[in-house]
Amino acid sequence: MTNNIKYFIGNLKMYGNTNYLKSMQKVINFSYKKKHKKFKIVFCPPYTILSDFVKLTKNTQIEVGAQNCHHNEYTGSFTGSISPNMIKSIGAKYIIIGHSENRVTGETNSIINKKIISTLSQKLNVIFCIGETSKEKKLNKTNSVLKKQIINGLKNIKKIDKIIFAYEPVWCIGKGKIPKTNDIKNQFKYIKKILFKNFKTLNPTIVYGGSVDQNNVESLCQINEIKGFLIGGASRKPNKFIDIVKKSIN
Ligand code: PGA
Repeated sequence: MTNNIKYFIGNLKMYGNTNYLKSMQKVINFSYKKKHKKFKIVFCPPYTILSDFVKLTKNTQIEVGAQNCHHNEYTGSFTGSISPNMIKSIGAKYIIIGHSENRVTGETNSIINKKIISTLSQKLNVIFCIGETSKEKKLNKTNSVLKKQIINGLKNIKKIDKIIFAYEPVWCIGKGKIPKTNDIKNQFKYIKKILFKNFKTLNPTIVYGGSVDQNNVESLCQINEIKGFLIGGASRKPNKFIDIVKKSIN
């Protein structure tokens, strides 16, 4: 592998039922064939098939994560919610936190911070989503938005080695477009700078998300700062997902 790509994270969002599990077999076979230790495939299906996914991918190279959680670590009277401890108990290893699709429904940086703290206390990995909206970008607020999301989201957190940062410009999610190469580079550099200043981390794991597909992944791989991808739409089709991995590792 000539680039730095390590993570391929599929975010299935509110798609996928038990039928989807059958098509997952293709990805499992692919990961066996490749037997690469250098990259990880993580799938984040909806809660309803999370446990099935864990069982199906047991003893494979694929790991499983949830798409969100409640900020309470264990149990509570929170109808419809699922805690990090519950997610851990079924064998999932990651939780996506701070996705823009949840931020728009009222998830604040302070709630996100509590979710991250609970998830880390359960010794799970966090996929921490950050990114600016198109309005914020137009107003030249990208850096200040990212800084606020990082600083407030990571308040009272000392160690960030179990956190994967997912830079997802909101205006690219599901839109079929990606930022200019230089803009991605600059945003990654800025995120690294903030993390170094606050956590002294020299080499944080930052992935890119937002309309990653089999057509643009090769050019994204040229960006050295990118350590992986958070893939929404294209993760729903196993063939497309495999194509993305193949094009990144060849
Ligand atoms: P997309 O979604 O790949 O469909 O743009 C990415 C995400 O929302 O994580």
